[in-house]
Parts: sequence; structure tokens; C-alpha cells
Amino acid sequence: MKGPGPRNPIQFPGMGKSVHKPLQGKTVLITGAARRLGRASALALARAGADVAITFRNSAREAQHTVIDISSLGVRAVALRCDITDQKSVRTTLKEVVKELGGLDILVNNAANYETADFDKLTLQQWDAIFASNTRGPFLVSQEALKYLRERQGRIINMGSLGGLRPWASHAHYCSSKAAVHMLTKVMAKALAPEIAVNCVAPGMIDLGEKAAAAFMKSMAKQTPMHRNGTGEEVAAAILFFATAPHFITGQILAVDGGLGL
Ligand SMILES: NC(=O)c1ccc[n+]([C@@H]2O[C@H](COP(=O)([O-])OP(=O)(O)OC[C@H]3O[C@@H](n4cnc5c(N)ncnc54)[C@H](OP(=O)(O)O)[C@@H]3O)[C@@H](O)[C@H]2O)c1
Repeated sequence: MKGPGPRNPIQFPGMGKSVHKPLQGKTVLITGAARRLGRASALALARAGADVAITFRNSAREAQHTVIDISSLGVRAVALRCDITDQKSVRTTLKEVVKELGGLDILVNNAANYETADFDKLTLQQWDAIFASNTRGPFLVSQEALKYLRERQGRIINMGSLGGLRPWASHAHYCSSKAAVHMLTKVMAKALAPEIAVNCVAPGMIDLGEKAAAAFMKSMAKQTPMHRNGTGEEVAAAILFFATAPHFITGQILAVDGGLGL
């Protein structure tokens, strides 16, 4: 089977071949989108007509490829190096995005870190590092983006996790950081209304084809009501939903998990 890619997209409702581009003229910033789920979301938003800025930290080469793939969809694309734990870096990045794309309509807080650790052995350094990227990062990027988003009646979409809704014993720091992102979503939705809508996508088990995870993925699929794991494109479809949904929808956490969390 041919894998999904920029020229082999999943078709979303209302996004058929009639060149319906619900995000035409809109600008998006998506953090940590050189590869994996961020890349899938960036491509989905570009296919819907948005000009897209992605950030990367270490994955410069992948970011370059993603920018080429986004550009091939006929929209503007830019990749900027940004460390979301660093205020100066975030501020400079936001200024650069607005300079390059002319404004900001949608921010997707995607960049994060994931780590497995036995509770007994979890160190303070591990705890703080996960919170710095996964929780403080989305807060910081959102705060720095506010003035631009307000000018455009914009949107913020956070990437949460099923791990923020359900406890995973070997991921205390990750689960707690994502639960905090879910609450941050609700607080921001209230604090930033009526100008900005804020929502959150919470993926469950998403199979990105990693060989090392194959056995784990198989066992998770068995436990999932939909009898399979999710795809990057299905997560991207949820991002696209919030990017195009009525502005009245705000403060929502949308699990994309095939029913695993039920
Ligand atoms: N994959 C899943 O199954 C799954 C499930 C539930 C939730 N999620 C959430 O969905 C989002 C995307 O998932 P993913 O698996 O694609 O993520 P990922 O590969 O673990 O991370 C995405 C990107 O975040 C960037 N990043 C990490 N720390 C950063 C920092 N301090 N500053 C700037 N960028 C930083 C990295 O950029 P560089 O590579 O450029 O360094 C990385 O490529 C994450 O928020 C994740 O927690 C994923």
C-alpha cells in the first residue's frame, strides 16, 4: 500500500477535488513539525490552503524536506529553528513568522517530548525537562503569539495526549505534563475569548511505522475498540477540524484514540 504523502493525501469532508480550500489566505505556525505528527498536520493544513511556518530544533534536514513538500502544494512555507523552552528564541521566531507570512491566524502547539521512566527512578531533572517542553512550552509560545492572534480572531490548537486523560504508570511526568496542557487549553479558552478559540487534540496510540514499536503497537491494537491504532493523517484530520471549526467551539479536548480511552 502506498503511504500517505503530499501527493497521496487522505481526503477530508468538504475537501474534495473541487479545490475547496477552507484555509486559503490563513497563516499557520506549527511547532516541532519537521517530522512525524507535526509534519502530517502541517501538510494537511497546507492542503487546505494555509501558508505554513514550521519550527524545528534538531531536525534541520527533515524540516527542509517538509518545507519543500508544503511548497509543492502551492502555498508559502518557512522553517525556523526554535527552542520552545527559551523565551528569546520563541519571541524571535514569532516575529520572524509574522514578517515572513504577514500575520498569524492559527498556532498549533505540537512540539513535545515523550519518555518512559519507572516512577521510583524518575529524577527531578527528567520531570522538569518534560514540563519545560510539554507544558511551559505551549504556554510560552501561546503567550508570545497572543498579540498577533488577537488581530486575526485566531485559534490555538494544543497537542495533548490520551496519557493526559488516562494514567500510564511508567509515564508520570509525561502524563502529568499533558493533563496540564488539557487544563491550560480550558483556561486559555476562557481567558482569551472572545477573540481566540483554543482547543486540544489528544492522540492515543498512533502507529508511525517504527519497527521497534511493532510488538507494542500490535498488543495495543488488540485492546482498542476500533481494533487498530491510529495514523498521523487521522490526527491531522482532528487538527484540521479545529482549524476550520466554528469559532464558537472552544475549550474542547478531542481524543483521537479509536475508543481506547473509553
Ligand atoms: N506520536 C504519538 O503517538 C502521540 C500520542 C499522543 C500524543 N502525542 C503528541 O503529539 C505531538 C506530536 O507527536 P510526535 O510523536 O510527532 O512528537 P515528537 O516526534 O516526540 O516531537 C515533535 C517535535 O518536537 C520537537 N521538540 C521537542 N522539544 C523541543 C523544544 N524544546 N523546542 C522545540 N522543539 C522541540 C522536536 O523537534 P526536532 O526533531 O526538530 O528536535 C520533535 O521533532 C506531541 O505533542 C506529542 O506529545 C503523540
